[in-house]
Amino acid sequence: MAFIVAVAQRKGGAGKSTLAANLAAAFAGQGERVALLDTDPQKTLSHWHGERARAGSRAGLLAFDAPAGWRVPAACDKLRRSHDVILLDTPPHDDTDARIAIRAADLVLVPLQPSPADLWATGATLDLARAERRPVAVALNRVPAQGKLAEQVAQQLRAQGLTLLDATLGNRTGFASAFAAGLGVTEAAPRSLAAEEVRALAAALKGLAPRR
Ligand SMILES: Nc1ncnc2c1ncn2[C@@H]1O[C@H](COP(=O)(O)OP(=O)(O)O)[C@@H](O)[C@H]1O
Ligand SMILES: [Mg+2]
Repeated sequence: MAFIVAVAQRKGGAGKSTLAANLAAAFAGQGERVALLDTDPQKTLSHWHGERARAGSRAGLLAFDAPAGWRVPAACDKLRRSHDVILLDTPPHDDTDARIAIRAADLVLVPLQPSPADLWATGATLDLARAERRPVAVALNRVPAQGKLAEQVAQQLRAQGLTLLDATLGNRTGFASAFAAGLGVTEAAPRSLAAEEVRALAAALKGLAPRR
Protein backbone atom coordinates (compact mmCIF):
# COMPACT_ATOMS: atom_id res chain seq x y z
CA MET A 1 0.00 0.00 0.00
CA ALA A 2 1.34 3.37 -1.00
CA PHE A 3 2.42 6.01 1.49
CA ILE A 4 0.36 9.03 0.43
CA VAL A 5 1.85 12.47 1.09
CA ALA A 6 0.01 15.72 0.39
CA VAL A 7 2.36 18.68 -0.04
CA ALA A 8 0.28 21.57 1.21
CA GLN A 9 0.79 25.17 2.24
CA ARG A 10 -1.68 27.95 1.65
CA LYS A 11 1.06 30.37 0.83
CA GLY A 12 1.95 30.45 -2.87
CA GLY A 13 5.63 30.20 -3.70
CA ALA A 14 6.48 28.21 -0.56
CA GLY A 15 7.94 25.36 -2.58
CA LYS A 16 5.07 22.85 -2.81
CA SER A 17 5.61 21.98 -6.46
CA THR A 18 9.39 22.02 -6.08
CA LEU A 19 9.29 19.59 -3.17
CA ALA A 20 6.69 17.33 -4.78
CA ALA A 21 8.65 17.03 -8.04
CA ASN A 22 12.04 16.61 -6.39
CA LEU A 23 10.83 14.03 -3.90
CA ALA A 24 9.09 12.10 -6.67
CA ALA A 25 12.30 12.07 -8.72
CA ALA A 26 14.41 11.08 -5.69
CA PHE A 27 12.12 8.20 -4.74
CA ALA A 28 11.99 7.04 -8.37
CA GLY A 29 15.80 7.06 -8.44
CA GLN A 30 15.80 4.72 -5.44
CA GLY A 31 13.63 2.22 -7.29
CA GLU A 32 10.41 3.12 -5.50
CA ARG A 33 7.21 2.93 -7.50
CA VAL A 34 6.14 6.57 -7.44
CA ALA A 35 3.00 8.36 -8.55
CA LEU A 36 2.86 12.15 -8.70
CA LEU A 37 -0.52 13.87 -8.84
CA ASP A 38 -0.86 17.52 -9.80
CA THR A 39 -4.08 18.77 -8.21
CA ASP A 40 -3.28 22.48 -8.68
CA PRO A 41 -5.27 24.20 -11.46
CA GLN A 42 -2.12 26.24 -12.14
CA LYS A 43 -0.70 22.97 -13.50
CA THR A 44 2.90 23.70 -12.57
CA LEU A 45 3.80 20.02 -12.37
CA SER A 46 1.96 19.23 -15.58
CA HIS A 47 4.32 21.65 -17.33
CA TRP A 48 7.26 20.07 -15.52
CA HIS A 49 6.11 16.62 -16.60
CA GLY A 50 5.73 17.86 -20.19
CA GLU A 51 9.41 18.88 -20.17
CA ARG A 52 10.30 15.57 -18.58
CA ALA A 53 9.22 13.73 -21.72
CA ARG A 54 12.17 15.41 -23.46
CA ALA A 55 14.68 14.77 -20.68
CA GLY A 56 15.71 11.32 -21.90
CA SER A 57 17.22 8.61 -19.75
CA ARG A 58 18.07 10.90 -16.84
CA ALA A 59 14.36 11.03 -15.94
CA GLY A 60 13.40 8.13 -13.68
CA LEU A 61 10.13 6.30 -14.11
CA LEU A 62 7.10 7.78 -12.41
CA ALA A 63 3.36 7.69 -12.92
CA PHE A 64 1.82 11.11 -13.44
CA ASP A 65 -1.74 12.40 -13.48
CA ALA A 66 -3.47 15.75 -12.98
CA PRO A 67 -6.90 14.95 -11.56
CA ALA A 68 -9.41 17.64 -10.63
CA GLY A 69 -9.73 18.04 -6.86
CA TRP A 70 -12.88 15.96 -6.51
CA ARG A 71 -11.28 13.10 -8.45
CA VAL A 72 -8.27 12.84 -6.11
CA PRO A 73 -9.66 10.16 -3.76
CA ALA A 74 -10.55 7.89 -6.70
CA ALA A 75 -7.15 8.52 -8.32
CA CYS A 76 -5.39 7.56 -5.06
CA ASP A 77 -7.52 4.43 -4.67
CA LYS A 78 -6.58 3.37 -8.17
CA LEU A 79 -2.84 3.88 -7.58
CA ARG A 80 -2.32 2.89 -3.97
CA ARG A 81 -1.95 -0.87 -4.40
CA SER A 82 0.49 -0.66 -7.29
CA HIS A 83 2.75 2.09 -5.89
CA ASP A 84 5.03 2.66 -2.90
CA VAL A 85 4.67 6.44 -2.68
CA ILE A 86 2.01 8.84 -3.96
CA LEU A 87 2.82 12.56 -3.81
CA LEU A 88 0.04 15.11 -4.16
CA ASP A 89 0.84 18.68 -5.15
CA THR A 90 -1.94 20.97 -3.97
CA PRO A 91 -3.20 24.45 -4.85
CA PRO A 92 -2.62 27.50 -2.66
CA HIS A 93 -5.67 29.46 -1.48
CA ASP A 94 -8.22 26.81 -2.49
CA ASP A 95 -9.17 25.22 0.81
CA THR A 96 -11.76 22.88 -0.73
CA ASP A 97 -9.32 21.11 -3.03
CA ALA A 98 -6.50 21.24 -0.48
CA ARG A 99 -8.83 19.66 2.08
CA ILE A 100 -9.70 16.79 -0.26
CA ALA A 101 -6.01 16.09 -0.90
CA ILE A 102 -5.19 16.29 2.82
CA ARG A 103 -8.02 13.89 3.63
CA ALA A 104 -6.70 11.39 1.06
CA ALA A 105 -3.17 11.53 2.54
CA ASP A 106 -1.37 9.68 5.34
CA LEU A 107 0.81 12.72 6.00
CA VAL A 108 0.77 16.42 5.19
CA LEU A 109 4.18 17.81 4.23
CA VAL A 110 4.29 21.57 4.73
CA PRO A 111 7.14 23.45 3.06
CA LEU A 112 7.96 26.62 4.92
CA GLN A 113 10.35 29.41 4.07
CA PRO A 114 11.88 30.66 7.28
CA SER A 115 10.30 34.08 7.63
CA PRO A 116 7.68 35.44 10.01
CA ALA A 117 5.20 36.14 7.18
CA ASP A 118 5.47 32.56 5.93
CA LEU A 119 5.15 31.20 9.44
CA TRP A 120 1.97 33.18 10.08
CA ALA A 121 0.49 32.07 6.76
CA THR A 122 1.01 28.43 7.75
CA GLY A 123 -1.66 28.52 10.45
CA ALA A 124 -4.50 27.97 7.97
CA THR A 125 -2.84 24.86 6.53
CA LEU A 126 -2.16 23.45 9.98
CA ASP A 127 -5.81 24.06 10.92
CA LEU A 128 -6.93 22.16 7.83
CA ALA A 129 -4.69 19.19 8.66
CA ARG A 130 -5.86 19.23 12.26
CA ALA A 131 -9.52 19.30 11.20
CA GLU A 132 -8.87 16.25 9.01
CA ARG A 133 -6.81 14.58 11.77
CA ARG A 134 -3.80 14.16 9.55
CA PRO A 135 -0.23 14.25 10.90
CA VAL A 136 1.93 17.12 9.72
CA ALA A 137 5.64 17.38 9.03
CA VAL A 138 7.15 20.79 8.33
CA ALA A 139 10.18 21.09 6.04
CA LEU A 140 12.12 24.33 5.96
CA ASN A 141 12.74 25.39 2.37
CA ARG A 142 15.01 28.04 0.86
CA VAL A 143 16.97 28.24 4.07
CA PRO A 144 19.54 31.03 3.67
CA ALA A 145 23.16 30.06 4.08
CA GLN A 146 23.56 32.61 6.86
CA GLY A 147 21.54 34.22 9.59
CA LYS A 148 19.54 33.11 12.59
CA LEU A 149 16.06 33.34 11.12
CA ALA A 150 15.73 29.62 10.31
CA GLU A 151 16.68 28.64 13.85
CA GLN A 152 14.22 31.16 15.29
CA VAL A 153 11.40 29.85 13.11
CA ALA A 154 12.36 26.27 14.00
CA GLN A 155 12.15 27.10 17.69
CA GLN A 156 8.69 28.59 17.25
CA LEU A 157 7.50 25.51 15.37
CA ARG A 158 8.86 23.17 18.03
CA ALA A 159 7.20 25.29 20.73
CA GLN A 160 3.90 24.61 18.93
CA GLY A 161 4.62 20.88 19.20
CA LEU A 162 4.98 20.47 15.44
CA THR A 163 7.11 17.82 13.77
CA LEU A 164 9.94 19.65 12.08
CA LEU A 165 12.08 17.57 9.75
CA ASP A 166 15.82 17.81 10.38
CA ALA A 167 16.38 17.73 6.64
CA THR A 168 16.08 21.21 5.12
CA LEU A 169 16.54 22.60 1.61
CA GLY A 170 18.84 25.53 0.99
CA ASN A 171 18.13 28.42 -1.34
CA ARG A 172 19.79 27.02 -4.47
CA THR A 173 19.50 27.94 -8.12
CA GLY A 174 19.87 24.25 -9.01
CA PHE A 175 16.25 23.65 -8.05
CA ALA A 176 14.92 26.01 -10.72
CA SER A 177 17.31 24.85 -13.43
CA ALA A 178 16.51 21.16 -12.86
CA PHE A 179 12.81 22.01 -12.76
CA ALA A 180 13.00 23.82 -16.10
CA ALA A 181 14.40 20.63 -17.65
CA GLY A 182 11.61 18.48 -16.20
CA LEU A 183 14.01 16.87 -13.74
CA GLY A 184 14.64 16.64 -10.03
CA VAL A 185 18.00 17.81 -8.71
CA THR A 186 18.94 14.19 -7.93
CA GLU A 187 18.63 13.51 -11.66
CA ALA A 188 20.03 16.76 -13.09
CA ALA A 189 22.95 17.11 -10.66
CA PRO A 190 23.16 13.98 -8.49
CA ARG A 191 26.37 15.10 -6.74
CA SER A 192 25.13 18.57 -5.83
CA LEU A 193 24.35 19.78 -2.34
CA ALA A 194 20.75 20.26 -3.44
CA ALA A 195 20.54 16.57 -4.40
CA GLU A 196 22.03 15.55 -1.07
CA GLU A 197 19.42 17.64 0.72
CA VAL A 198 16.56 16.14 -1.27
CA ARG A 199 17.76 12.58 -0.60
CA ALA A 200 17.91 13.37 3.13
CA LEU A 201 14.41 14.84 2.98
CA ALA A 202 13.11 11.74 1.17
CA ALA A 203 14.69 9.51 3.83
CA ALA A 204 13.21 11.57 6.66
CA LEU A 205 9.81 11.40 5.03
CA LYS A 206 10.03 7.64 4.55
CA GLY A 207 10.69 7.35 8.26
CA LEU A 208 7.24 8.82 8.92
CA ALA A 209 5.37 6.29 6.77
CA PRO A 210 2.74 4.35 8.71
CA ARG A 211 3.62 0.71 9.36
CA ARG A 212 1.05 -1.51 7.75
N1 LIG B 1 14.98 25.55 -2.24
C1 LIG B 1 14.81 26.44 -3.25
N2 LIG B 1 15.86 27.15 -3.72
C2 LIG B 1 15.70 28.06 -4.72
N3 LIG B 1 14.53 28.32 -5.30
C3 LIG B 1 13.45 27.65 -4.88
C4 LIG B 1 13.52 26.66 -3.85
N4 LIG B 1 12.27 26.17 -3.63
C5 LIG B 1 11.46 26.80 -4.50
N5 LIG B 1 12.15 27.68 -5.25
C6 LIG B 1 11.61 28.56 -6.29
O1 LIG B 1 10.53 29.32 -5.74
C7 LIG B 1 9.49 29.46 -6.69
C8 LIG B 1 8.19 28.92 -6.08
O2 LIG B 1 8.33 27.54 -5.86
P1 LIG B 1 7.11 26.55 -6.09
O3 LIG B 1 7.60 25.17 -5.81
O4 LIG B 1 6.49 26.77 -7.43
O5 LIG B 1 6.10 27.01 -4.94
P2 LIG B 1 4.55 26.66 -4.73
O6 LIG B 1 4.26 25.40 -5.50
O7 LIG B 1 4.40 26.47 -3.25
O8 LIG B 1 3.78 27.84 -5.21
C9 LIG B 1 9.93 28.75 -7.93
O9 LIG B 1 10.46 29.68 -8.82
C10 LIG B 1 11.01 27.79 -7.44
O10 LIG B 1 11.97 27.51 -8.43
MG1 LIG C 1 2.83 25.02 -6.96
